[in-house]
Amino acid sequence: MNHFLDIHKTGAADLRNMITQAGEMKQARLGRPKGAPDDDQPLAGQMVALIFEKPSTRTRVSFDLGVRQMGGQTMLLSGNDMQLGHGETIADTARVLSRYVDLIMIRTFDEDVLIEMAEYADVPVINGLTDRTHPCQIMADVLTYEEHRGPIAGKKVVWTGDGNNVCSSFLHAAGQFGFDLTFTGPAQFDPEEEFVGYARKKGSKITIERDAFKAVEGADLVVADTWVSMHDAQSAKERRHNLLRPYQVNERLMSHARPDALFMHCLPAHREEEATSAVMDGPHSVIFDEAENRLHAQKAIMRWCLGV
Ligand code: CP
Repeated sequence: MNHFLDIHKTGAADLRNMITQAGEMKQARLGRPKGAPDDDQPLAGQMVALIFEKPSTRTRVSFDLGVRQMGGQTMLLSGNDMQLGHGETIADTARVLSRYVDLIMIRTFDEDVLIEMAEYADVPVINGLTDRTHPCQIMADVLTYEEHRGPIAGKKVVWTGDGNNVCSSFLHAAGQFGFDLTFTGPAQFDPEEEFVGYARKKGSKITIERDAFKAVEGADLVVADTWVSMHDAQSAKERRHNLLRPYQVNERLMSHARPDALFMHCLPAHREEEATSAVMDGPHSVIFDEAENRLHAQKAIMRWCLGV
């Protein structure tokens, strides 16, 4: 069963093939209306359940559109509207959904929900974000980097701010795609040692640097993300902002990276907090390409899951 649960749980060759296929599928659609079907319809007759226990714009729209372009159909399910949100077990939900649909994508809080869903489902399950990781995002980010600058292997990626779930998947990707990653942020928000250890074991150079200006020197890619994630307590917002403010990505910080460095943010952003509009809308930024590439990367992920 080809579940797409995390980048480190998927073979490096399969990940590379997905990036290649995503790029090819994107090229094949150039100039077409968004709603036009792809030439081949690998998901014809297939039904995909898209479960959201947290808000979403990009994941929701890009998965829905991607399934339709490939000839399949979707069911958008809100966790709260399902019995899952009212006491039905994850295992029973997984078994029931497997009788109706061919593929399940779930965005949830606790990683254990995703893992249990995959354990009991008879169909592939895709991680659409948990509190710990966000692998679909990073597949889109690798595709985006390589579209603009060629192979990401050997490059220096700098993660700024909070070592959150997106940062964790970047660390997995560092290990699988062979790039180096420098984390710069306050010690309270360091990425989990498990993720850092994974990337190091795979041979990537992982550096923790408290000084943001030193961190971005020689960077090929600078990444920012929100300072308060969906699973963080809103009551901690002010404290987090005070600690993270020195790590804001602004034009002064970007000027210390390589002149051709890219800037990424998975969005949604809080402009003038983790990154300024001058950077987000400036010459280094590829944030809207990242958002678009969620569509293309996830189409390749779904094809891999379904073997089509
Ligand atoms: N980046 C991302 O996952 O966006 P959404 O929360 O809008 O899906």
